[in-house]
Amino acid sequence: HRKYRPAPVIALADRQWPNRVLEQAPTWCAVDLRDGNQALVEPMTVAQKLQMWALMTHVGFKHIEVGFPAASQPDFDFVRELIERNLIPEDVTIQVLVQAREDLIIRTFEALKGAKRAIVHVYNSVNPTQRNYVFNSGKEGVKAIAVQGARWVRDHAARNPGTEWSFQYSPESFSSTEVEFAVEVCDAVIDEWRPAARPMILNLPATVEVSTPNVFADQVEWFCRHLKARSEVSISIHTHNDRGCGVAAAELAVLAGADRIEGTLLGNGERTGNMDIVTMAMNLYSQGIDPELDLSDMDAIVATVGACTQIALHPRHPYAGELVYTAFSGSHQDAIRKSLAAEKPDAYWDVAYLPIDPADLGRSYEAVIRINSQSGKGGVTYLLERDLGLQLPRWLQIDFSRRVQAQAEASSSEISPEQIRALFEQHYLEPL
Ligand code: KIV
Ligand code: ZN
Repeated sequence: HRKYRPAPVIALADRQWPNRVLEQAPTWCAVDLRDGNQALVEPMTVAQKLQMWALMTHVGFKHIEVGFPAASQPDFDFVRELIERNLIPEDVTIQVLVQAREDLIIRTFEALKGAKRAIVHVYNSVNPTQRNYVFNSGKEGVKAIAVQGARWVRDHAARNPGTEWSFQYSPESFSSTEVEFAVEVCDAVIDEWRPAARPMILNLPATVEVSTPNVFADQVEWFCRHLKARSEVSISIHTHNDRGCGVAAAELAVLAGADRIEGTLLGNGERTGNMDIVTMAMNLYSQGIDPELDLSDMDAIVATVGACTQIALHPRHPYAGELVYTAFSGSHQDAIRKSLAAEKPDAYWDVAYLPIDPADLGRSYEAVIRINSQSGKGGVTYLLERDLGLQLPRWLQIDFSRRVQAQAEASSSEISPEQIRALFEQHYLEPL
């Protein structure tokens, strides 16, 4: 058993995020076409990227990271296609990733020629592991790279005045970095960008998720409080899901002061994925906050993401999986049936075992009742009422559900509504 170094706990005696509640949606930035794509066994073709792009603009993302054009010809071609075919809606800003190297920054500006608006996103690793083993450079070395990157983007933005430029800087592996040092680097980068007098985003990545979400939220809150020029920048968060808490970390980070969240639709991305924007958006929705994304056709989202990534969705994926609005157990079926039928005193959605109305995602109640050997009389009664208009007396509900259960046990499989109808006819209806 190897020991892992625990993530540092930031003492914030007067930490504020635990007393806050989420009140509005952050700005979303979808990184499916960059972080999501770079993690695929088979990267998306230009045609698949266009399909994904159409989905993302339809869903309503206003910031979309479209690739790393200086590092990949298909990414370069895709960015050119978006610009030359005029495919970028008026209210959408594209973002591209680049390392802090001048040749790559020049190529990035070539890719973006003619764009109305764009965010140039520079990153470099600042955490001790990378400083010590990968770059063999001290703190001053990685800080100088970041500052130099900002200077090059500022210079090249000034030489290409036809575009409304914004600059984003990511101290990669922020969550594994001494937070005081992350502040020092970002202060210096802001100072370097300031003469450009254009918008700037600081994006704080949990490149690898290494702590519980509360520790990450403390890091974000400490960072926001100690940054010299907090009001000059937008604070963005980019979480990965290594500990399974990417969405939770992003939610707490918003409580801790972040304005913007980067993630992917349904969570594709490096290793265990990026945080899933669908889950966080629906979490907000279910507590009455408009996520300002149109997720009303979830089947189309699942189909397009699946076609572009070649990754099937887990049937129990939050909000989107095929099985999340089904109930097999009899007591759940009974409770759902009764609460769907009940008169409600107010407009709140209040149905047992269904945290949201599936109709809001284009799903139907129909799939809720499915019958197998664990189902009781409630589900069977519901199906007969729905399909045959039959209201059974209680003795018959009990008698018939025993027969259904016996058949399900014998076949060890789900019983379809057609089989239930046939079984009912076989036992209780007079042959004609
Ligand atoms: O995970 C990460 O740190 C990244 C950066 C490039 C933002 O993807
Ligand atoms: Zn990432």
